Amino acid sequence: MGESMKKIFIIVIIVITMLLLVSILNNKDIINKKYYVNNDKYFILVDYPCFNDKNIDNHINDYVNNTINEFKYKVDTYSYMYLDYDYSINNNVVEVIFYKYFNINNKVNIDSIVFNINNKVNIDSIVFNINNNNIDIKEVSITTNYSNIYQNDIIDTNKKMVALTFDDGPNYNTSKILEILNKYNVSATFFVLGSKISGNEKILEKMDKYGMEIGNHTYSHKLMTKMDNEHIIKEVKDTNELIYNVIGRYPKVVRPSYGSFNKKIKESINMPIIIWNIDTLDWKSHNSTKIVSRIMNKVSDGDIILMHDIYSATVKAVDIVVPKLISEGYQIVSVSELFYYKNIELENGEVYGKAG
Ligand code: NI
Repeated sequence: MGESMKKIFIIVIIVITMLLLVSILNNKDIINKKYYVNNDKYFILVDYPCFNDKNIDNHINDYVNNTINEFKYKVDTYSYMYLDYDYSINNNVVEVIFYKYFNINNKVNIDSIVFNINNKVNIDSIVFNINNNNIDIKEVSITTNYSNIYQNDIIDTNKKMVALTFDDGPNYNTSKILEILNKYNVSATFFVLGSKISGNEKILEKMDKYGMEIGNHTYSHKLMTKMDNEHIIKEVKDTNELIYNVIGRYPKVVRPSYGSFNKKIKESINMPIIIWNIDTLDWKSHNSTKIVSRIMNKVSDGDIILMHDIYSATVKAVDIVVPKLISEGYQIVSVSELFYYKNIELENGEVYGKAG
């Protein structure tokens, strides 16, 4: 290689390295942060985003800190507060919607606040839209403009089908998802945690009333691959009983915590094991747009989609993705319906991630 060739070669390497660095910096994702306090007086659980941008993060942190302090000062009897969010970025404008749930003097409040932050210019362009409602989260209904796309009751076995599944609930967001699914006349499977049933029986009753399937997602959500047979059986059996006590029927399907299974789990659980083949990563992104595109980019007939009914971003995503799926010809069904209509018999101890 001649001297000039060497020079060109080095310059090319430097340019490529710089381009790579620039693309890495531009792709920096938000980081989801958590703040958690549990004491005699209150329970606080906060999810908030960090954008690695001082302009934005200072305002987010101010809002989060003020919200936490305001709550702490108002509390007299034991109370709780949850704060989580959905966000999007369009043309350098970051929009973060915070959803706040808190109870004070036995009244449950739901607030949402929208921040529009132009990260190129100034902080004055922050817009607050405040909704203040006093409602029972177990009976919450949300006002949305539903389109005219509804799924028919009767499933056509020649048409595409997809199962939406929701894990780790129920919590204060579950009822919102139920209202959306009910408006579109579709069903889904909720893999509930046994430990979250007490106090949330009304939500399970509503699932049942709206024709949703209730599945078992273990009692404690502890990883079962290291447990002995006795404990694995207890995790599943206790949850089955708790579900039975509310709706008068036992669940037909189980999803082990984290979707993790081994030979011992398969042998101990006397039920079909349902995992998924599309993971929306909703717990990680808190971004309804990303959740929707992860589904729409990948979806095909017979898929099982994993979501979590405990996040506000997931609620928004469900509201967007259900009519989208229906308009693309998908019938949205529960897991048991999916396998029933696909003529696949579910067997105990077998693992299913997709129908067909
Ligand atoms: Ni889970």
